[in-house]
Amino acid sequence: MSGNNFFKTKSELIENINILRKEKDAIILAHFYQDEEIQDIADFVGDSLALAQWAAKTTNKIIVLCGVHFMGETAKILSPDKKVLIPDLEAGCSLADSCPANEFEEFINDHPNHQVISYVNTTAAVKALTDIVVTSSNAKEIVDSLPYDEKIIFGPDKNLGDYINRVTGRNMVLWDGACHVHEQFSLEKILELKSKYPDALILAHPECKKYILALADHVGSTSSILKFATQSVNNKFIVVTEAGIMHELKKQNPDKIFIPAPPEDAACACNECSYMKKNTLEKLYLCLKNETPEIIIEEELRKRAVMPINRMLEISEQYGL
Ligand code: 13P
Ligand code: SF4
Repeated sequence: MSGNNFFKTKSELIENINILRKEKDAIILAHFYQDEEIQDIADFVGDSLALAQWAAKTTNKIIVLCGVHFMGETAKILSPDKKVLIPDLEAGCSLADSCPANEFEEFINDHPNHQVISYVNTTAAVKALTDIVVTSSNAKEIVDSLPYDEKIIFGPDKNLGDYINRVTGRNMVLWDGACHVHEQFSLEKILELKSKYPDALILAHPECKKYILALADHVGSTSSILKFATQSVNNKFIVVTEAGIMHELKKQNPDKIFIPAPPEDAACACNECSYMKKNTLEKLYLCLKNETPEIIIEEELRKRAVMPINRMLEISEQYGL
């Protein structure tokens, strides 16, 4: 037995996933924070923006989104005629949870005449209250595309919002939300790593706190971190984001050294998102077999939520993102 209750070996489990995906005309999309074995079996692995772009264009009957709930919702909003499945419905997101739609609506009402920009890490109900959705891959360009004197509300990630304010020179009003994984990185431990490996470059996700971003040689989304490391002449990097990205970093750069940044409170050396890690190969098999759990979104809500996502996709295309 190799960690699964249905087949004698992991390769049998994988074989059966492969049979089902073909039989059912399913595409498997996975985020960079998924377990290695899920990334390896996926048809496509990417960041939040790329997953949305794939979901919008795929012709398969079924989309299995190996990521967290808001990613499945985004896929369903963009592809309402497809069946969208996620291996574990409990795969949530602390950042999306930090922004309940009714409270966000009050926040918007308290700031009239503002454009509302929401990070993709939000529920469909929050997207429905939004003018333009962004991801960490396109937030700067989308904010730059608005007139400089435009008043803007940005939610829910205050760290990303604050970073975008700094790089665009804006003064967006920020919702007070954060990701529990990215807020946990330890400044002391990163500084210790830097003194141990002085020639290593620090790569950080913009959901990290300001004092961590201040140390970074590169700040960007998961795909931007990957691109930077791959194109860099440097061969050592301290990676300050969820540890799942290490798999693709090492795969694309077998001769480079990647050191995961540790969180404050744990004995372990890296930082994982427990929600992302809820998905397993076994659950992926079951979800293909039973075609559940399925993401369902009420059509009226979907129609409101699709507009700000489409605006994001249009502006991203203009910028070649
Ligand atoms: P990316 O869009 O950079 O992949 O980030 C997704 C995410 O959930 C970050 O915590
Ligand atoms: Fe949400 Fe943070 Fe996990 Fe990303 S890493 S899915 S923002 S909880």
